[in-house]
Amino acid sequence: MPKEGSGNGTCVVTGAAGFVGSHLCRRLLDLGCRVIGVDNFFSGHRDNMQEFQDHPRFFFHERSVTERNLLSDLAVDYGPPSVIFHLAAIVSVPYSVEHPQETREVNYLATVRLLEEARNLGCSRFVFAGSAAEYGNDMRLPLKEAYAGGETSWLSPYGEAKYRSSKAVGACGYGPRGVALRCFNIYGPRQDPSSPYSGVISRFAELAVQGEPLTIFGDGRQTRDFVYVSDVVEAYCRAAGLDPSAPKVPAGIYNVGSGTRTSVLELARLILNLTERGESIRFYPERPGDIRHSVASIDAIQAAMAWRPHISLEEGLRRTLRWMQGRRAVKPA
Ligand SMILES: NC(=O)c1ccc[n+]([C@@H]2O[C@H](COP(=O)([O-])OP(=O)(O)OC[C@H]3O[C@@H](n4cnc5c(N)ncnc54)[C@H](O)[C@@H]3O)[C@@H](O)[C@H]2O)c1
Repeated sequence: MPKEGSGNGTCVVTGAAGFVGSHLCRRLLDLGCRVIGVDNFFSGHRDNMQEFQDHPRFFFHERSVTERNLLSDLAVDYGPPSVIFHLAAIVSVPYSVEHPQETREVNYLATVRLLEEARNLGCSRFVFAGSAAEYGNDMRLPLKEAYAGGETSWLSPYGEAKYRSSKAVGACGYGPRGVALRCFNIYGPRQDPSSPYSGVISRFAELAVQGEPLTIFGDGRQTRDFVYVSDVVEAYCRAAGLDPSAPKVPAGIYNVGSGTRTSVLELARLILNLTERGESIRFYPERPGDIRHSVASIDAIQAAMAWRPHISLEEGLRRTLRWMQGRRAVKPA
């Protein structure tokens, strides 16, 4: 069973049916935790939970994080949880621009209420899914945690809501120890490629296995910081104190990224190479609101959690492509 910070080993994971949330649930079950998953399937899928939904220590509730007394209700059945992993969110940036009020409700106000409930229930940790979007279009690279603040001009309600939530969680001086993980571009199996705004890797991987040309918006020289999902899950576990060999993590806000920049063009070529396809790329005009460059400083998380990414981009892409090929093989034509 997990030790430090885990109490009775019961964790709540919001966004459990999502890409990252489902990987986190799997890992927590492997660590011996009892996991209570919450999701309303706004963007997540039941299939993502397939490999663990019947696990005897997994309990799922189809509910929204905007519901009042969510954690207290769950505590009636399961007792107060030790750790809250709060990942549920409206994740589409364009959707957030069209629905700013709803985004504020789901991505910010719900976080504050859950934090308050976690405090009242005596939870020991609250780990929040922050985002690189909290930095707006700040070009001081690599991006350091202190750069996001009053001067930041966010490019979307998504970025602003994530920033406000991370601040509330990371600066919480009493109640559960709050850690906000500002994740950069996460990728890996189960990331949904269906929207044109979904992660560029899942989109490219799907196009590549379908034999379609990869589509790049702009000249492809824009850079991103890609981090593989299992490395991100490890950061969540460390932030929650579930890895007894890792140092005790102070409350705060931490970037989670690879710390390296990869251009979208380099990425496309790597994927085409791995799938043994020629230079099959189509260029489209740049999309308004897309940032030019982004890369994380990962000094803070390295110092606080002795965390560093282990999966290289090439290895992560191989795993993602393998999953995408398997998914295609089982999908009806
Ligand atoms: N994927 C990335 O590159 C990335 C980068 C930075 C931050 N994040 C953050 O990580 C978290 C997980 O992202 P993801 O990529 O797994 O996306 P995802 O869409 O797969 O997961 C989000 C989950 O939240 C659920 N959800 C949405 N609104 C809800 C509500 N009101 N109540 C309950 N559940 C709700 C969705 O149904 C979905 O299952 C999000 O908070 C996202 O903002 C992701």
